[in-house]
Formats: sequence, C-alpha cells, structure tokens
Amino acid sequence: LARVADQRLTTRSATRCLENYQKVTAIERAAKLARGDLLVELIDVYGVRAIDIARRTGERPGDLSEMVAVCRTFPRQSRQRDAIYNHLLLATRAMRRFPTLGLTPEAALREIIRTGLTQHRDVTRHFDRLSRRRSTHLLEGPSVEASDPLLDRCHHARVQDVLPRLADGSIQMLAIDPVYVFARSNSTYRARAARSRDCDDMHDPAAAIGTVIDVLRISQPKLAPGGVFLLWQPWQSLRPEIMAAADEHGWVIDGPIIWDKGRPQPGRFDSPYSPQGEFLWLLHRPGDSPVDCDGDLSREMILNFPPVSAPSSAHQQLHAFEKPVALCEHLVRKHSRPGDVVVDACACTGSMSVAARKLGRRWVYIESSNENFAIGAGRLAPRD
Ligand SMILES: C[S@@+](CC[C@H](N)C(=O)[O-])C[C@H]1O[C@@H](n2cnc3c(N)ncnc32)[C@H](O)[C@@H]1O
Repeated sequence: LARVADQRLTTRSATRCLENYQKVTAIERAAKLARGDLLVELIDVYGVRAIDIARRTGERPGDLSEMVAVCRTFPRQSRQRDAIYNHLLLATRAMRRFPTLGLTPEAALREIIRTGLTQHRDVTRHFDRLSRRRSTHLLEGPSVEASDPLLDRCHHARVQDVLPRLADGSIQMLAIDPVYVFARSNSTYRARAARSRDCDDMHDPAAAIGTVIDVLRISQPKLAPGGVFLLWQPWQSLRPEIMAAADEHGWVIDGPIIWDKGRPQPGRFDSPYSPQGEFLWLLHRPGDSPVDCDGDLSREMILNFPPVSAPSSAHQQLHAFEKPVALCEHLVRKHSRPGDVVVDACACTGSMSVAARKLGRRWVYIESSNENFAIGAGRLAPRD
C-alpha cells in the first residue's frame, strides 16, 4: 500500500498538493512556537499570568502553560529554524519527568528525534527504561563522532576485529548475513547459476557458526538504545549453538521474519518441499524496545521482495548470496533514522551498505574474503 501511495504522489498535481500541505504544516508549527514566545513575553515583561491570558482569549490555561514551558526550555535564540513543536514538547516533558537523568534540552531532543517516538506514552516508557538502567550516554552526547574514521568505509577484515573498535552505544542496526550452515551435512545450498560463487568458508560450519556466536558475545554494548541485531538465517530452526549463545549473552529473540522470494530455491533436496525464502531473526537487549521508524506503515512479518536472481531484476547479480537492495532499504528505513549507524557484517556485495548510504545513514561494511571484498568495495567506491 505504501508503495502504491508513493506512486500516486508522483503525479504533478498530487506533488503540488503535498507541497502546499507541507508549507502550511511548517507555518502551523512555526506559529505555535511564535505564540509560545509571545506568551513568555507577556508573562516576563508585562507580569501577567497564563490564567489571566486564558481568561481573555478563551483558551485553556494548561495549553498556554505548556507552550510557555516549551519556549522557556528551548528559547528562540537557540532553537533550530525547522524545530518541530511536538519534538520540543516531548523533550521538555522528558526533562521534567526524569530529573535524575540530568538531561540537557539538546540531549533530550536528540534522543526524541533519534528514536522516532511521537507519543507521550512511548517517550515516557523509553526514558523510564533509560533511567532504570542509569544510562549515561545521553549526558555525554551522541556516541557517534561525525569524523569517526571507521564510519562510511569498507573494512577488509573479520567482523570480530572491527566491532570492538566501534564506540559503545553507537550502532542502531547491526545486520549480519553470515555464511549459512545447514542442519544436514549431506545437503548443499550451492546456487548453480554460472555467475554465482560460493561463500569462502562454506566448507567450515564451525567457523560460520563461531562468527555468529562471537558477534553475539561482542555486540550488545555497541548497540544504541532501541538498536537491533538482525541475523539472516536459512529456512530452518535457529541452530542450537546460536540459540544457546543468544541466551548466554542476554539477547531477546524476536521472529523469525520471513523473506518470501516468491519462488522456490535450492535447499534440502531430500525434502518434499522447497523453501521460498529465508528467515530474519531480530534480536535486541532485554528491556529495550527496538525502534520502529515506519511503524505506522508496515508491521508485516512476511517481506515480499524478489531475489536479485529473479528474471525481472534489472540488476546484474554480483554474487550467489547477494541480498536485494530494495529489501535492505526496507529494513534500514524501519530500524534506523538518517544519521544513525548501520553495520553490514559479512557484507559481501554490500547491499545493506548500499541501502544505508542511499538513505543517508552512516554505514560500516565488513567483509573478510579477498574476492568478495573486491566486489563490495568496488560497488561502494566513492562516487563523483
Ligand atoms: C552470505 S554472504 C553475505 C551476502 C551479502 N548479504 C550480500 O548481500 O552480498 C556471507 C559473507 O560473509 C563473509 N564472512 C564470513 N565470515 C566472516 C567474518 N568473520 N567477518 C567478515 N565477513 C565474513 C563471507 O566471505 C561472505 O562474503
């Protein structure tokens, strides 16, 4: 539905109507802040009370006091030009309600914008969790340094070696698409197309599972509040070793979410069925709620995206296990906001990094094999 709506909004008249709507919305937001500023002036300069003004204007005193509180917390001189009243209101309330967090107005606002929360109830729940965990990252400002040399880069390395170097609390979305290991040793999952290549350590299941276990062990402190760990796995139950490690390192597992490719694929050739998709497991920290940035649009557990190898695909497949960029974009949009850090572990052709870069996220591409790194790094080479 969202895709259809996007298309409808591309006609000239619809675009114009939407632009007008956005202009009026901007005026409305600015007007609310301008009203708050005038109220502050009436109170501070002319010594009247909110209740006196309310009597004259017929408004509710509580509404006026709220506007005054927002405009005092974010005075006109220090306010961003495009500030959104609702964000400022939520930040003002969070500061008052959770004094033990010692939030500055900027830190509270940054957290509201970063999490994408818009409802008072959700904001309260979020800051309540932070205060119970005595989270200090808010006081220290964003854990992502604009100039961090690890960001927006391709790393020819093992994910286990790069992750520890990333700042604690910096990763909004950590996606790992490891080499798949199948339950039965006699089953193979080799794509047979001429252009396909096997993943390098395909022959070493212990190494493949070990990589996932290592990442489960290292990554929890690296996640930002509301951050997610997305783990791609084949169409089968989660390996017991991975389950055990997730448990040991205190992860909450949601899912699986199904990537439905809409066509059968190889797999266990002794099974009467042929899977049509792969599983995506969503893991997060206990007590944390994963950010859902497009929560109003889609909460589907089946993601319908054709594979890169589909005959309809205009893109020349680069690798047998390449994920479609459209699918990656969907996940990036859902679990992060512009400026957030997306880590593409076991990145190969780098579809996730391509999606993250396209959508204005900071990205970290990590791939250990020479051959696959050459493909991904070529695709992500700086553009003119
Ligand atoms: C299934 S492929 C990933 C495909 C990728 N999602 C894409 O869209 O192209 C798995 C990749 O993980 C890489 N890999 C395996 N172990 C790794 C490790 N410890 N660190 C980084 N990359 C690793 C393999 O070389 C392989 O390229």
